[in-house]
Amino acid sequence: MAGRNKITVVGAGNVGATAAHWIASKELADVVLIDIVEGTPQGKSLDLAQSAPIDGFDVNLKGVNSYEESKDSDVIIITAGLPRKPGMSRDDLLKTNADIVGKVTDEVVKYSPNAFIIVVSNPLDAMTQVAYKRSGFPKNRVLGMAGVLDSARMRCFLAEALEVSVENVTAFVLGGHGDTMVPLPRYSTCAGIPVTELLPKEKIDEIVKRTANGGAEIVGLLKTGSAFYAPSLAAVEMAEAILKDKKKILPCAVLLEGEYGINNLFVGVPCKLGKEGVEQIIEISLTNDERAALQKSAGSVQELIDILGV
Ligand code: NAI
Ligand code: 2OP
Repeated sequence: MAGRNKITVVGAGNVGATAAHWIASKELADVVLIDIVEGTPQGKSLDLAQSAPIDGFDVNLKGVNSYEESKDSDVIIITAGLPRKPGMSRDDLLKTNADIVGKVTDEVVKYSPNAFIIVVSNPLDAMTQVAYKRSGFPKNRVLGMAGVLDSARMRCFLAEALEVSVENVTAFVLGGHGDTMVPLPRYSTCAGIPVTELLPKEKIDEIVKRTANGGAEIVGLLKTGSAFYAPSLAAVEMAEAILKDKKKILPCAVLLEGEYGINNLFVGVPCKLGKEGVEQIIEISLTNDERAALQKSAGSVQELIDILGV
């Protein structure tokens, strides 16, 4: 019998520890939780392991401060870094988190040369590019989580406005994970019906704006950190699609090489995820306005890449 899958989550803060929780409760994989703070990954893993008899999951959970235990992981989820504080933009985090993500990537690659890397640390698209460059991995094995979160936020707001189940609602968000992200109402549906036929334009415009501001809205409320329940589950959905070879179409930050007219840049677009990781990048047709918005969003990611020189 094949053994369980193994996922290493780097960063045992809000997103990382909650990702470990979702992975365990889904019985998706054994989990190694790594952080630089002594005691934090150990304590959180032990606490989580003690919830197993209540919830009824059987996975191994290990919390550590070094990388040996991560050996031969199937998936690495990188959440290490600093979160946004009130008044701080995602891009303020750029250099500090690039340094952290670069060093973490060196370590995980050493022990798990065949893993898939899912990056969560912000600014997301640029950090995914850092991990890609530092890993030397092929582009199908390095991807960033943002679109799943951003589109889940949009689905949540649409379902609320339509007074329907969230399960009836799909939504598409393209572009970088920043204020310039591109929510696409035309490709968002309720039970297959485009939401543009169900809601007035003003309501849709309001939802688009709230989606683009979704992270900042939660930072403003929490005051001491940023969102973590939905972000961690979004990363786990991506890992699950790969580990279970689901061929699931999800918006992910991936390396574009000409698709959508964008070159050598990680930006969020719809992808098919399966056992090879990013198995296909799906190009949907865009109106001139949508294409211009995507180009603008890619331009803001490019600015960060230029600053970092990666
Ligand atoms: P947090 O502060 O709760 O946790 C971050 C953890 O990383 C801390 O425990 C810290 O000790 C650890 N860490 C720092 N440097 C490290 C290193 N070199 N090696 C290992 N661990 C290290 O932050 P939170 O809320 O978990 O967010 C984590 C990151 O994810 C942030 O950059 C945040 O902006 C980003 N984020 C991205 C989202 C997205 O949609 N892509 C959504 C939510 C958060
Ligand atoms: C979010 O969108 C902070 O990027 C993070 O919640």
